Amino acid sequence: MEKIVILTGAGISAESGLGTFRDKDGLWTRYDLNDVATPEGFARNPSLVHDFYNARRANCAEADPNAAHYALARLEREHRGEVLIVTQNVDDLHERAGASAVIHMHGELRRALCAACGHRWNAPAVMRAADPCPACGRAATRPDIVWFGEFPYRMERIDRALGAADLFVAIGTSGNVYPAAGFVREARAMGAMTLELTLDPSDSATDFHEARHGTATELVPAWVDEILAC
Ligand code: OAD
Repeated sequence: MEKIVILTGAGISAESGLGTFRDKDGLWTRYDLNDVATPEGFARNPSLVHDFYNARRANCAEADPNAAHYALARLEREHRGEVLIVTQNVDDLHERAGASAVIHMHGELRRALCAACGHRWNAPAVMRAADPCPACGRAATRPDIVWFGEFPYRMERIDRALGAADLFVAIGTSGNVYPAAGFVREARAMGAMTLELTLDPSDSATDFHEARHGTATELVPAWVDEILAC
């Protein structure tokens, strides 16, 4: 299994204390995603959207990586082939566990984006719409998060990696949101073996060659041990 592509979702950070979206008590049971995760919602009420992401940035700052994040960082370090982590998560727990080959396809809480000129910079702990862009000076500051209706980042790179993958593994994602939910079929059609590691079977569980169900902190370190023992 030389080339491994790993897709992670909110489930990998659940045991670090960060909420998932669609589980019982998940973020989308408490907030309307149309209000806080769309460009239209931001245009209607930027303060509400900033409050939502400021709260999530604060949660993230208090959280620590868990055994699943550390196991993936170890895989990246010790596997003889290539490992690419594609995450839908906007937290930085993969990086804080030591991983470096990480693509944040849905953006990052720790980055800010100017909606006027496209400039990006490191987000302060608390962001406000009135904050001026350091490049153009306009007050069009938004979190660098990919909202519904926007294009995920680095899709060309991701598609290339899926096309070349020997093994595709999805961890802690419900398979609800495209294009990520289609990665398993894309990788499988190009010849990869496919494995799901998640608490409950995802909506695309039957698309995988194999599915293992349990918590990320149990399943992921055990799976990494298996791969490194090969
Ligand atoms: P979801 O909340 O949709 O799914 C979380 C998945 O993690 C579920 O399948 C759970 O069974 C699983 N899970 C929960 N706890 C777990 C644990 N301890 N160990 C392993 N698995 C666990 O989250 P995502 O699939 O990441 O996008 O959601 C995808 C996208 O939808 C997010 O990136 C976000 C959201 O709307 C945007 O905001 C653009």
